[in-house]
Amino acid sequence: MPTNEKWDVYLKEYAAPQGRAPAFRTETMGCQMNERDSETIAGLLEEMGYVPAASRQEAAVIVVNTCSVREIADPRVFGILGQIKKVKEAHPALVTAVCGCMMQQQHVVDAVKSKYPWVDIIFGTHNIHMLPELLRNVVLEKHKATDVWDDGGEIVEGLPARRTFAFKAYINVMYGCDNYCSYCIVPYTRGRERSRATGEILREARALADSGAKEVMLLGQNVNSYRGAEDAQTAGFVDFPALLYRLAAVPGLERIRFMTSHPKDLSDRLIAAFRDCKKLCKVIHLPVQSGSSRTLARMNRRYTKEHYIALIEKLRDASPGIAVTTDIITGFPGETGADFEETLDLAEKIRFDSAFTFLYSARKGTPAAQFGDQVPEEEKHRRFNLLVERLNGITAEKNNAYLGRTERVLAEGRGKTGRDTLAGRTDSGKLVNFIGPLSLTGQMVDVRITGAKTFSLYGEIAARP
Ligand code: SAH
Ligand code: SF4
Ligand code: F3S
Repeated sequence: MPTNEKWDVYLKEYAAPQGRAPAFRTETMGCQMNERDSETIAGLLEEMGYVPAASRQEAAVIVVNTCSVREIADPRVFGILGQIKKVKEAHPALVTAVCGCMMQQQHVVDAVKSKYPWVDIIFGTHNIHMLPELLRNVVLEKHKATDVWDDGGEIVEGLPARRTFAFKAYINVMYGCDNYCSYCIVPYTRGRERSRATGEILREARALADSGAKEVMLLGQNVNSYRGAEDAQTAGFVDFPALLYRLAAVPGLERIRFMTSHPKDLSDRLIAAFRDCKKLCKVIHLPVQSGSSRTLARMNRRYTKEHYIALIEKLRDASPGIAVTTDIITGFPGETGADFEETLDLAEKIRFDSAFTFLYSARKGTPAAQFGDQVPEEEKHRRFNLLVERLNGITAEKNNAYLGRTERVLAEGRGKTGRDTLAGRTDSGKLVNFIGPLSLTGQMVDVRITGAKTFSLYGEIAARP
């Protein structure tokens, strides 16, 4: 019997007692790249005949998409696998899959295989498109499957996606990273830099806009390295600023965001786009990592504190009021008290709108993991807490400056602050809570800002769209 027929029989047999198709569940850790990958995973599973599951207990397949960067991820993943074991004991037909950045590390794959034998499928970041085949094998042939590719090769286009939102969407513009910051695992888990063809990106953006997307977030580890072929036939290349202008011409799209741009090669043309491209949101996530040029050199970031400050000045000249957000690591090996003071000083100078702070955590296989002078845990935490306190103070002050202003907010649905509240984001990316009907979800709403806290703004509708 051909596989497809066998598969249809499986779907029917599975569905018979419950009256509905088998259900899938994705559980996603990590960054926007992983969130976007999980949308593809969900799209592939839907194409196979699965429907979304409301709970783990209801699921016929659970896919855990892992991250290697955030320290919290490792224990969390193993905790989740432990919980899934219990679900599987109650529902032996459950298929368990683990994927994502952690699976690109051989020692993690070995650990999963030896300590979590109830995991049926292991796949990586480069072969998501193989999931249907791996899953069919497990379900029909009762084989376990491990398939992790070392590198990405050609970008696979045309995969389905189940999008989380209709009114805003992620678009990958490039994959991988060639920067090799000395602490970072991403170049090893996501492979070499590869850009998607400009035509493919535009096609995706037009389709999203046609189905109601107003805002797109372009994803890449360093979008300044974007170098897209116009299409399969032409030899010309499109760089990132040029891509932004092409996207700005897509009818229906009102907002374009991107992340992330590396300070070492943030170009003047990209800075100018914040002035010249109306649809480009006035916010930049520009991870600084440290305020000490000495630490930056040891991180292999290839810019200095002075260079970073000069970039922010240029950005603020080009686009007054542009929001600046960042990532900062505390306790990088060899970071002295004086280095840390420089980070505090930089935070004061730049006055970030918000910042993600990370405790340095050694990643196996990265150069910094071998550095001899690791900072003691307690000191790392002390610095982290001091920095967070200072950064939060600045964020609150920045938010206070919004009081009394009227901001365009893209309403994203119910907020967390009360039954009648909607939550949405300003052009600059600030979260705003305001009272309004659910029917405004996906609409641009003018909101007058009446309150400001550290992590959000409050307001009232000034005018309906
Ligand atoms: N490509 C992006 C970063 C992706 S990783 C960029 O270069 O800006 C997201 C953030 O995780 C990094 O900016 C860094 O602050 C943090 N990070 C990465 N590896 C880390 C590690 N080993 N320990 C602590 N924080 C880390
Ligand atoms: Fe990691 Fe650096 Fe690449 Fe960002 S630029 S993903 S921090 S190696
Ligand atoms: Fe993202 Fe984590 Fe991988 S931050 S690229 S999911 S290691």
